[in-house]
Amino acid sequence: MGFTMGLNLLLLVAMVATNILSLYHLSSSIQQQNPKPPTPHHVPDYLVHQLQTIRATINHLTRHQNNPPDHSVTRPTATSIPSDLLLYSHLSPIASSCHNHPELLHKYMNYTAFSLCPPGSDDVVEALILRGCHPLPRRRCFSKTPPKPSSSSLPQNPFPAKLLDDAVLWSRYSPCKSFDCLNRLNPNMGFDMSNEISNFMAYKSELDLPIPQLLQIAKAASSVLRLGLDIGGGTGTFAGRMKLYNVTVVTTTLNVVAPYNEAVALRGLVPLHVPLQQRLPVFDGSVDIVRCGRAVNRWIPAATLEFLLFDVDRVLRAGGYLWLDHFFSKGVDLEKVYAPLIGKLGYRKVKWATASKTDSAGLKNGEVYLTALLQKPVPK
Ligand SMILES: *[C@@H]1O[C@H](CO)[C@@H](O)[C@H](O)[C@H]1NC(C)=O
Ligand SMILES: *[C@@H]1O[C@H](CO)[C@@H](O)[C@H](O)[C@H]1NC(C)=O
Repeated sequence: MGFTMGLNLLLLVAMVATNILSLYHLSSSIQQQNPKPPTPHHVPDYLVHQLQTIRATINHLTRHQNNPPDHSVTRPTATSIPSDLLLYSHLSPIASSCHNHPELLHKYMNYTAFSLCPPGSDDVVEALILRGCHPLPRRRCFSKTPPKPSSSSLPQNPFPAKLLDDAVLWSRYSPCKSFDCLNRLNPNMGFDMSNEISNFMAYKSELDLPIPQLLQIAKAASSVLRLGLDIGGGTGTFAGRMKLYNVTVVTTTLNVVAPYNEAVALRGLVPLHVPLQQRLPVFDGSVDIVRCGRAVNRWIPAATLEFLLFDVDRVLRAGGYLWLDHFFSKGVDLEKVYAPLIGKLGYRKVKWATASKTDSAGLKNGEVYLTALLQKPVPK
């Protein structure tokens, strides 16, 4: 039954999410030093709280899904709140979750007005955003700024030989203090320009959609590509390549453990520092193409993904394209959960390619990749 499987998936996601959250907590434990003596069973309060929130979400969804929509009308408590608002505020608690993390929020807002923001208070920004505390309040202090770069180190070309190390405040990204260091840790993070230059250009498997081919498809359909949005676009390589074809693409990207936003800006591209759960900061029907990279995958709860895809629909113009690039999920879920979910958009399938994900995690979990190019219909 679809619902039971959805619930199982949600539980799985909750488990993964909890693990990821605890990872974040480990990595930010310096900010969370607590004067209280540890409790005997060593389960920190914030983790207990998160587990409760996740359980409450599951309980809520269970109730929500078990009740046919009409039934809720008979319950007086549910009548005044639109059910989608209820659902979404559980999935993504619309800034109210700032109140769930007072220690981080206080750290962020504890500053002297009109002077330098205290060191460390900028480091909690992403911690808050990732916990659903977004938008953040504005502040009246001066954030630390890297030194003025020389004009030659700010290239017009989005594929410079090297990104400028001095333009990054590395204290946030320990242990690395340079882009070379990041490349040594992992050459596939997107900071190695000699790698990035060939991305999106070659057709190595059915899952690839080289940009020249994409432009050809659009041209053949008399569909102009001028403006685009790359969701979870890392260091901005899609936007960089499209810039060389005179197409303007903005990239949403988070930093998490490396200077992704800084790298996008250093390449002369526009980074939008917004999380996946946020309404896209773009007006209705204004872009020609939206690409979802690997950041959009099965780790996002299916209900959240549904809201994301419908927001993409909102910002796409009629005849615009949605490109799901290497979306991964379990094979069985692609068939039973994600393909039907994508189908709700009613888009035309220009390309639909799937293949097994053959890395160790993919083999272990029976995962597959989907690359799809979908065209938004023209309104009737
Ligand atoms: C606020 O900042 C001051 C000065 O750095 C510090 O002494 C105080 O503990 C901070 N308060 C909170 C709630 O973080
Ligand atoms: C992009 O625009 C520039 C300036 O108008 C033009 O010289 C160049 O040929 C264009 N490039 C492409 C790939 O269309």
